[in-house]
This record gives sequence, structure tokens and C-alpha cells, in this order.
Amino acid sequence: MTRSMEKIVALCKRRGFIFQNSEIYGGQNGFWDYGPLGTELKRNVRDVWYHDMVSAHNELQQPAGAPSTFQMVGLESALIMHPQVWKCSGHYDLFHDMMVDCHACKGRFRQDHIPNTPCPQKPSKMVGEHTGCQLTEPREFNLMMKTILGALGTEEDAAFLRPETAQGIFVNFKNVCDSTRVKLPFGICQVGKSFRNEITPRNFTFRSREFEQMEIEFFCHPSQSREWYTYWRDRRYNWYLNLGIAKDRIILRDHHQDELAHYSVGTADIEYAFPFLSEGEFGELEGVAHRGDFDLRSHTEGKLTKNAAGELEVEKNADGTPKHRGSGKDLTYFDDQTRERFLPHVIEPSAGADRGTLAFICEAYHEDQQPDEKGEMQERILMKFHPRLAPVKAAVFPLIKKEGMPEKAAEIFGELKVAGLNCQYDQQGAIGRRYRRQDEIGTPFCITVDGDTAKDNCVTVRDRDSLQQDRVPVSRIVDEIVSRLKA
Ligand code: GAP
Repeated sequence: MTRSMEKIVALCKRRGFIFQNSEIYGGQNGFWDYGPLGTELKRNVRDVWYHDMVSAHNELQQPAGAPSTFQMVGLESALIMHPQVWKCSGHYDLFHDMMVDCHACKGRFRQDHIPNTPCPQKPSKMVGEHTGCQLTEPREFNLMMKTILGALGTEEDAAFLRPETAQGIFVNFKNVCDSTRVKLPFGICQVGKSFRNEITPRNFTFRSREFEQMEIEFFCHPSQSREWYTYWRDRRYNWYLNLGIAKDRIILRDHHQDELAHYSVGTADIEYAFPFLSEGEFGELEGVAHRGDFDLRSHTEGKLTKNAAGELEVEKNADGTPKHRGSGKDLTYFDDQTRERFLPHVIEPSAGADRGTLAFICEAYHEDQQPDEKGEMQERILMKFHPRLAPVKAAVFPLIKKEGMPEKAAEIFGELKVAGLNCQYDQQGAIGRRYRRQDEIGTPFCITVDGDTAKDNCVTVRDRDSLQQDRVPVSRIVDEIVSRLKA
């Protein structure tokens, strides 16, 4: 079975998972739209993340591997923030890629991607290999998207769409501490859109200009930060395994010292073997970073930089004034048990909702051969989504369109809907074709009302993966599906 990207992209369009944005106008590069099934799938990815990280988190119980109990709360900050946020965070000066133009083909490339980018004019060669390429010197290109606020539209009114959700959490750290009874250690979680003016958006939704992040900023005492870093790194890796990603297609990769961001004490990436990569290559799904006190300190003191001794200090202009002034607000935490005041350290598990969704789609894609009604082998496409992520949880079929079967099937469909399960009702075509339509969108269970239902008040539940069929009483069908979805 080949998991080719072409087949996956075609399925996403054919069945309404992901569409090219503004397709009828030729498309908008770097932007994607989710169709009805993609919307359900991505919503499930977000909801499962929020459920597992926040709603279902029990602050009274110490999870396995955690140094202690802890609290988790949610936050939703605006897409646009005060421009000073990005100056102090370092994004204004440092959030750029090196860009190279080619005078010959008018192509624009990220410098670090050039060795692997096919030449648009000679796709058998890489950019730069082909003697006709006329490449410019690399230039810096800031990735933040600019917009203008208000009617005057002057440069002073310029603002940026956030390139990460994290800063919304840091600038609200004090608000959360003051308005709730959270005690260290605790995490603040946010799911939301981020924007980056990527020079070369590519590989389907993997690198887009508008995407969604699911970020946790976990605040802890500096003396415990290494233990928390290890805890979050392992927990987040296991989250993907528990949702069905195969162990040989996902890795936890610790960054080398020279790869670390300017603020980071340690970072690990959770990476997935996306089908658009070469054999043995992995692409980032999520980064788990130990950020020390960099963020809270910069929002107090101003933009930080490393001095010759490798210590962080406020970056200064030639006249000794801070290059970018901080808020001046005290963002320390006071521990009323130990009477200690300090700047917490931060562990940041930062996941991409779109990349996660794409990985779950790629992982789910399977092809096999199944006999049709006449016993002839037919190719079947099967999306093996984890039941928690599957966009459609169950499909209900009357075997034939008479003898009261459609009425009974509609009744069951209604009960599943009342229970909040996204289901489909289908009475068109042969039963085998109906199963195949559901297999192709990853519906875990198909429920069939047949000729025996009127006699024994039972329906058949077919499992997508094992193909096993069980008789289940109609009176228990909702509970049965709900419990199978949780298994
Ligand atoms: N606050 C830290 C941060 O934003 P990042 O590694 O730049 O770290 C975190 O981004 C995650 O966001 C990535 O692991 C990826 O899943 C997602 N992401 C980043 N840029 C993206 C893009 N252009 N398109 C889709 N997802 C992206």
C-alpha cells in the first residue's frame, strides 16, 4: 500500500475534507478551507486536545510521571495585540527567514530550502544546480503579517496578526493569577489562529500562511523546570500514539545546542513521517520548549539578548536606552507558602492543529481488497481514524427501502443525533456500496436495520476495521456506540 500524497490530496477534495482556498478564482497560495468532513475532523482534533489537556485534567490527582499535581486553565486572546508585544518577544527583529530570488525564472525561495527545491524551469534539477539560475544574495524577510488599524492608515497604525498564540498567554499571566485561584505549577492553554507570511507555503496544509495552534504555557518553579520539561515532552508524544499514530512513523527529536531558539534552554520536536518527505525523513508536528523565564522577563524589562558571557540582558541602543522597552509591570509570582517571590520558568508544548489533522489523515489512509456483492474483489479505501477523531461516528442504513426499515433506521438516527453524535443516514444503493462510502471517510460503525429487526428488535453493528458484525438490541444502541467510541 502506497500512502502517496497525490492520493491523499485527491481524497480530501473528493470527500470534502480540505479544499484549495478561493479555488474558483484560481486559489490563494498558502491558504486552505476545510469542507464539511474536514471541519468535523479538525474540530475533533481541537476538542480532544482541549479535553485531554484542560477539561478532563484532574488537579487533585498526580498524573503518572508528573513531579506533582497541577492545574490547567484555558484562555482566548485576540489575534491582534499591541505592537510592543512583538518588539519585546523578539518577533519584530528576529522572526524572519532568508529569502533568495531568481532573476531567470522570477521564482522566490527560502534559502534553507534551496538544496531540495526543484527548479521551476527544469524540475529534474534543484534550484541553483541548473546553470541558468540567476540567484540574488539572500535577504531577510519578516514573517509577520501586517495590517492597518483605523481610518487614517498611516505607518503608526500598523499592527501585526499574531504569528503564535503564545504571547497572548504571557501578557495575560498576571491577569490569570489575579483573577483565579491558580497556584504554581499550572498551565494556560490556548487554541487559535496564527498567521505567518511564509515565503514558500507548500506540502498541502503543512506550511500555510494561516493556521491554527494549540499551545500550552506551563509555569513552574525554576528548580523543577527540567523535570516538567521531560514530563511534557513524553506526555505530548504519547498523546499522538494514543490517537493511533504508529510508533515507527513518529519520533521525539531533541534539538542540538546550535538549533535552539535564542531563548531556549532545551527543545524537542515531535515529528511525523509525512508521505511528502523522503524515506527516513520526518516533519515537525509539535515543539516542546523549555523557555526559562525569557518571556515573562522580556515583557517586564524589554527585549532580551544574550551577552558575550551567554547571559540574557536587555538589548540596548548606542545611547544605553533599551532597544524595545518592556511593560515595566511586575510579572513575578509570589508563593504564599514559602514566602518566595520569583519569575516562573515556562515549558511550552506548541502543537499545530492543521499539521496534526494532516498527520491523522495521512496515518488513517489505507487501501485493501474486499469482495463486493458478487464476490469479486474490489479495491477499498479505508480511513482508519481513531474513533475519537472520526468525523462521522456512525452511519445508519435500512437494508431495503420498505417493510418499515427506513422508519426504524430514521428513529435510531434521531436518537444518535440527540446524543450529540455526528451520524449519517444512507438508504441509497447496495449495502456493500454504502459500507464502502463510509469506510472511505473513516466512519467506525455502520448500523443496519434488516428483515429480522422487526422480530428481534436488534440491529447489526459492523466494525470498520475488524469487519465484525454484532447484533445489538435497538434499546441499547446509543449506549453501545458511545461506549465503543470511548474504547
Ligand atoms: N510558540 C512557539 C511556536 O509558535 P513553532 O515551532 O514556530 O513554535 C509551533 O510553531 C507549531 O505550529 C509547529 O510545530 C507547527 O505544528 C505549527 N506551525 C508553525 N508554522 C506553521 C505553518 N506555517 N503552517 C502550519 N502549521 C505551522
